[in-house]
Amino acid sequence: MIVKTQHNIKQLIKKYRAKDNTPIVFDFKKASKDLWDNKCDKDNRYINYIHYYPGRIYPYIPLYVLSLNDFSHLNGYLLDPFAGSGTILLESIINPVFKRNAIGVEINPLARLISKVKLTPIDLATVPQLMKKLHILYLRKADTSNYIPTFKNINLWFFNKAIKKLAKLKYAIEKLNVSVDYKDFFWVCFSSIIRKVSKADPYIPPPVLLKPEKYKNNPNKYQKLKNHLNRAEDPEVWNLFETGVNKNLAKLGYLNNFEELRTGKIKAEIIWYDARCIKRGQLSERGRIDINQTKKLPLNSFDIIFTSPPYLTAQKYIRTSKLELLWLGYSEKDINSLDKTSIGTERIPSKARITELSINSIDSLVNRTFSKSKGRGLMVYNYFENMVKVFKEMYCLLRKGGYAIFVVGCNKVLGEKVDTYRLLTDEAISVGFKEILIFKDKIRTRSMMTKRNGTGGIIKNEYIIMLKKE
Ligand SMILES: C[S@@+](CC[C@H](N)C(=O)[O-])C[C@H]1O[C@@H](n2cnc3c(N)ncnc32)[C@H](O)[C@@H]1O
Repeated sequence: MIVKTQHNIKQLIKKYRAKDNTPIVFDFKKASKDLWDNKCDKDNRYINYIHYYPGRIYPYIPLYVLSLNDFSHLNGYLLDPFAGSGTILLESIINPVFKRNAIGVEINPLARLISKVKLTPIDLATVPQLMKKLHILYLRKADTSNYIPTFKNINLWFFNKAIKKLAKLKYAIEKLNVSVDYKDFFWVCFSSIIRKVSKADPYIPPPVLLKPEKYKNNPNKYQKLKNHLNRAEDPEVWNLFETGVNKNLAKLGYLNNFEELRTGKIKAEIIWYDARCIKRGQLSERGRIDINQTKKLPLNSFDIIFTSPPYLTAQKYIRTSKLELLWLGYSEKDINSLDKTSIGTERIPSKARITELSINSIDSLVNRTFSKSKGRGLMVYNYFENMVKVFKEMYCLLRKGGYAIFVVGCNKVLGEKVDTYRLLTDEAISVGFKEILIFKDKIRTRSMMTKRNGTGGIIKNEYIIMLKKE
């Protein structure tokens, strides 16, 4: 199918250059709707809601870009080195005109699990039968105390009855004798109810204890949150789980519309955990990566790299997933170490040192920030230092003539507005990429918005950067 009503990239590039490389304001949602004559299929977008994940990319961006005729010759593999919950990988394999196999890398095991489930068709008719077996196991009088995760303050986050019921459900899923794809589907549904039965504030992404009094000036919200806390004392764990399973099944059913996915002709998979040094491992249950059978990825393997990197100090992906990760079997030690090694972390050792990256725009931002606050300066440095490593890796893995596209917001550091998109583009150029075109679009979805207290600011626009390896 040839798409007719689309923009011509060459003309856009001319316009971009004529305006001194000023980002072109572009409405990706409108462009996608025009492209598909307003019949833009909404069902695929619902799959993104099988589990909450912070900072999800707006799906219309990859939908539009990956549909462009100008990119039709790039029909090999797509790589997303910061796959998160798999939105771009999904858009790659279900694109209405050019379906591409896709590979993802992601440091957060919960995000790996969500992506895997979102990208794997399962037989819907099997699930109700498995639910009957699961319910029998759930009701079985067994000692499930071993299924309670051991972490400090578990009673701070969950009432006793919630802990016991969650442990019974965890026991049931573990004991269910079924293939890993179905187990992972149930793990995602299990994980998606953890926050609902906890004492954490549902309005704040990283877990913070809910204090309904804080919302007293909004009587509706106050009452809603008091009810939430009352329900958490003795939650209907099985009912919540069952409702979640049915809803997720309906969302996931969309994948079965595509014969290429059902037959495995086109597929997307998560293969690794660190974008700074990408290899091929084996994804196993609950988002674990088996590194015993690690293989090197050949250079020049990918036609397109499409990603949304972590924000500069504005999103706490691991901390936001903490309660779910603990219940999925990850230890506090695992979680701490993931938090420290994630790109964009705020947890930098005070002994860390700064050396120049030899990119003027970044070195001067680091120096300015460091002179006001050593901690913030180290954080900013750490972010850009790690992103250079990722760009180098991306450059090696992309084939000549291939495109790297990344989507990034801007934010404030110590009150100063930072054009992160420009600085990251400078970094990419420093490793060999050629800047082709930059778009600017408004952030519309709530999951993209991160309100930060203090100096972080709110991310309002996002930039879509197109680079080429020539
Ligand atoms: C902006 S989010 C990606 C969101 C994704 N596009 C989606 O729609 O869900 C950035 C992701 O980078 C991940 N990340 C941070 N450091 C990483 C690293 N070193 N390697 C791979 N992923 C990393 C974070 O865990 C987070 O999920």
